[in-house]
Amino acid sequence: MVQKRNKFSSRFGFIAAAAGSAVGLGNIWKFPFEVGKGGGAAFLIIYLFFCFVLCYPLLITEIAIGRRSRKNPVGSFKAMKHPNWTFIGYLSVLCGVLILSFYNVVAGWVFGYFVEILLGNFDIGKNFETFITDISEVGGYSLLFMVVTAFIVSKGITNGIERASKILMPVLVTIMLFLSIYALTLDNAMEGVKFYLVPDISKLNIEVIYRALGQSFFSLSLGMGALITYGSYLKKQEDIISSGAIVTLSDVGIAFLAGLMIFPIVFSQGLDTDGGTGLIFVSLPGVFENMGPVLGIFIGALFFLLLSFAALTSTISLMELPVSYLVDQKKVRREIAVWISAGVIFLIGIPSLIGNGYSEFFTNFITYFGAEKATDFMTFITDLALNTFLPIGGFFISIFAVYVWKRRKLFRELSYGNEKFLKSWIAKYVGFCLQYIAPVVLGIVFVITVLEVFFGVHLFK
Ligand code: PHE
Repeated sequence: MVQKRNKFSSRFGFIAAAAGSAVGLGNIWKFPFEVGKGGGAAFLIIYLFFCFVLCYPLLITEIAIGRRSRKNPVGSFKAMKHPNWTFIGYLSVLCGVLILSFYNVVAGWVFGYFVEILLGNFDIGKNFETFITDISEVGGYSLLFMVVTAFIVSKGITNGIERASKILMPVLVTIMLFLSIYALTLDNAMEGVKFYLVPDISKLNIEVIYRALGQSFFSLSLGMGALITYGSYLKKQEDIISSGAIVTLSDVGIAFLAGLMIFPIVFSQGLDTDGGTGLIFVSLPGVFENMGPVLGIFIGALFFLLLSFAALTSTISLMELPVSYLVDQKKVRREIAVWISAGVIFLIGIPSLIGNGYSEFFTNFITYFGAEKATDFMTFITDLALNTFLPIGGFFISIFAVYVWKRRKLFRELSYGNEKFLKSWIAKYVGFCLQYIAPVVLGIVFVITVLEVFFGVHLFK
């Protein structure tokens, strides 16, 4: 029996879901610490370049592939009569599983911070290291997060989540605006702004480039079929070109705002910009504390609660990948597919959970060739899934779309819902980026990254 595939009910519903997938911990937790690691504005510029030149064209391509095939990433290449390209689909599902496994751990920290600040524990920032090694507590929060995600996904992409994101995202952005303005009034704030916005070219190196690439893909949920999946639920008459632009702009805008919020705070508190995964967790509670007990608890708890919601709309889209694969390809019932996925992914996440100081083995998990220090499990997974697999996924998707499926057919799909597209400059721009820039840049960065990160071969030093 062929079931009619669910569709997003409105243009807004689709944009909310896609933007909800894009906006998450990637923007507010990861982006600032990547900027910090990458030396500030140098990273920011490369990141912006990747977002507009590579990511936007790929984003609309993924959605178009999904809408054309009406399938999950594994099924979509078969449905389009190019079964040899199915490996991209498997890579996507694998990536979704790996990313969700550590993402859910960080989401647990965020939710834990909500609870702690609600209880007036502003010292949590100073005690971040102790907090994340309290495994029964953070483990509990991340288990809770997985269960909530699974519960929502098991109901299908409900109106609930669409409706919730519609209200919650603007509130989150308002709080961030408020916090960045507040941050700008702190002592030494301008140093932070300078670090963030005035580029220091000497900080530019290949590591900055590949991290900015991974970050841009991760933040826009690209290179792993999340948007193929969402595109498969999109109606023919919807305009992919402008919806995609809205998603890209809001994602980039929120990441940018997060930097504007964090760096003045980091500089005013004399913290290290290279604070890694702990950056927002260490720097923010002090600011809430300065606001006084009532306002501090209110704004602080609300901030972490809303960040939990932003993370939730992303974990939902990540979980949808293995689930839609099991449902479409393996004919597993949706509820069962969800709980199997949740259980397996939670288990795969355990090394990330305990690899932040609790377990010596997973904290110093692997030492790359030529590296001085060992890398923890979570960083290893991000290097692998995010900085390596996502750009490869993007590389193959761009090649597939323009050279195998063919630019003409891709453009025809994109023009449904936007009749002017074919004659517009955007079509030329997108075509050029996909056909020439994406394969070349992604191919080169990929080779250099693998050599440098995993084999310690430094081509540029
Ligand atoms: N884009 C999400 C974020 O920035 C993470 C994500 C990646 C979600 C890939 C889905 C797919 O937090």
